[in-house]
Amino acid sequence: MSETARIILDGTEYEFPVIQGSENEKAIDISKLRAQSGYITLDYGFKNTGSTQSAITYLDGENGILRYRGYAIEDLADKASFLEVAYLLIYGELPNEKQLTYFTDSITHHTLLHENMKRFFEAFPAGAHPMGMLSSMISSLSTFYPESQNPNRSVVDIEKTIHRLIAKLPTLAAQAYKHNTGHPTVYPSNDLGYCGNFLKMMFGLPTQDYEVDPVVERAINKLLILHADHEQNCSTATVRVVGSSQANLYSSVSAGIAALWGPLHGGANQAVIEMLEAIKEDGGDLQKWINKAKDKNDSFRLMGFGHRVYKNFDPRAKIIKKAADEVLEQLGIEDPVLDIAKELEQVALNDEYFLARGLYPNVDFYSGIIYRALNIPKDMFTVLFALGRLPGWIAQWKEMVENREPIGRPRQVFTGANHRDFVNLGQRD
Ligand code: CMC
Repeated sequence: MSETARIILDGTEYEFPVIQGSENEKAIDISKLRAQSGYITLDYGFKNTGSTQSAITYLDGENGILRYRGYAIEDLADKASFLEVAYLLIYGELPNEKQLTYFTDSITHHTLLHENMKRFFEAFPAGAHPMGMLSSMISSLSTFYPESQNPNRSVVDIEKTIHRLIAKLPTLAAQAYKHNTGHPTVYPSNDLGYCGNFLKMMFGLPTQDYEVDPVVERAINKLLILHADHEQNCSTATVRVVGSSQANLYSSVSAGIAALWGPLHGGANQAVIEMLEAIKEDGGDLQKWINKAKDKNDSFRLMGFGHRVYKNFDPRAKIIKKAADEVLEQLGIEDPVLDIAKELEQVALNDEYFLARGLYPNVDFYSGIIYRALNIPKDMFTVLFALGRLPGWIAQWKEMVENREPIGRPRQVFTGANHRDFVNLGQRD
């Protein structure tokens, strides 16, 4: 007999099915709770609420395990290319040679932007945050490809939208950077790989040859893989909820980019470096900053520390810390900010406040150090996170559509005023 959960409300007992995942994760299916009892569940921030059953990413926060489609993040970061991982996430299996060639070729041939989009960029003020530009530009892609707006579009059309998104995001990201540096646009090069092409569009000039540095290319490849999916996080949940209204994929991803921008989510990578620089400027008194983070009357948090699901360690942070050391060594860079980061990590890891709450460095704590070493400006860090997360958003959106999931629409417990009679303007206090 399958397991059930019993809930007693107002003296009546209700029985609900227990669902078990492939890694023995358990959930109570309360989807009929309100219909049967009139009650709903209340869970601020969805800390304890599953919104779907997903076969994409497995995460065990207690043991620091992260797998995409069953493959360990450590193996993928070490051995795969970002496009292989994107294929794996979106289609469920690692591609064979023929599949990867087709996929890579299709992505390579969709990298160009419609020339009209250049004029959108021209209209942004100097110094516009690239995440704001990126989110707007991705949403505007839907106007160039109106067939994407049809909720009953064909599989072929969906496929094209997916490939266009993966192909055009690096072009848009590089263009946002060029806008802020005032440098001329560098068009995509079909002879380069995904990461190499991005680097050339960012740092190349139309009038000069650009040689892709393999150390930098490998580092970007690894970082993108480490960010590629993370099950039902804030931005991914946003993409699924927006997509559940049958809004087109471009707009759904644009909403995901907006959600990622926040400093508690992907925006933390920019905030971490700003914090480390501020600590350095301030004389490097780490204890002072730790005390600020612990002070409940101070809104300051130690950026890059803590995670909703990791309460032991973030496996991505482990890989990135090692990669940061390697990249700095290979590029011959000494970064005092890295030293502050390492010291801060040690102070926090030996502090009762952080230990008791399971607050460990997360993926964003060290990624900014690598980006700095690669000459990527701070306001582009979260853009790099978005480039990495894109296949995850797409895979999760696709799964939601294929499962025919209902529109996302939470309930609430109303705490406002009861019915009142309208008071005419002259009669109000
Ligand atoms: N510094 C100081 N205290 C913290 C921190 C921090 N970074 N993070 C959590 N806490 C405390 C918090 O004050 C609370 O204490 P208490 O129990 O005494 O009230 C306790 O730890 C639990 O925190 P919470 O806010 O209830 O935890 P959450 O799961 O809602 O938040 C988080 C998770 C990531 C938003 C949070 O840890 C945080 O704000 N971290 C800093 C921002 C950051 O680095 N974000 C990047 C996350 S990784 C990239 C991604 O995938 O998004």
